[in-house]
Amino acid sequence: MPEVRELVPRAADPSPGSSYYRRHIFFCLNQREGGQACCAAAGAQQAFDHCKQRVKELGLASPGQVRVNKAGCLDRCAAGPVAVVYPEAVWYSYVDLSDVDEIVESHLRDGRVVERLLTPAHLGR
Ligand code: FES
Repeated sequence: MPEVRELVPRAADPSPGSSYYRRHIFFCLNQREGGQACCAAAGAQQAFDHCKQRVKELGLASPGQVRVNKAGCLDRCAAGPVAVVYPEAVWYSYVDLSDVDEIVESHLRDGRVVERLLTPAHLGR
């Protein structure tokens, strides 16, 4: 029988089509021109860096757990700064780093949505 080489490390659920990470969080880091509202102008980079650090500190940064990713404009600038968590497709509008801590500990780690930080459904660009 030929040797089978794994191309990627196994995640928590190794079945075909399963998610490699349990959750992704995408932070919009977009900078818009001309003084338009944007996430970059509202501290998104610092929030992203803080989230990555907290996820790492909590031992969540590995396959089968959580991945923190950068994103360009998510087209919800009026609600920014925003981040979205998948696979639940839950949008957050955060204000400060303690909000990010709550998203990490409640949603990313424990699977509980942080209701008070949900992005209002009607807010887009
Ligand atoms: S600049 Fe962040 S959603 Fe558009």
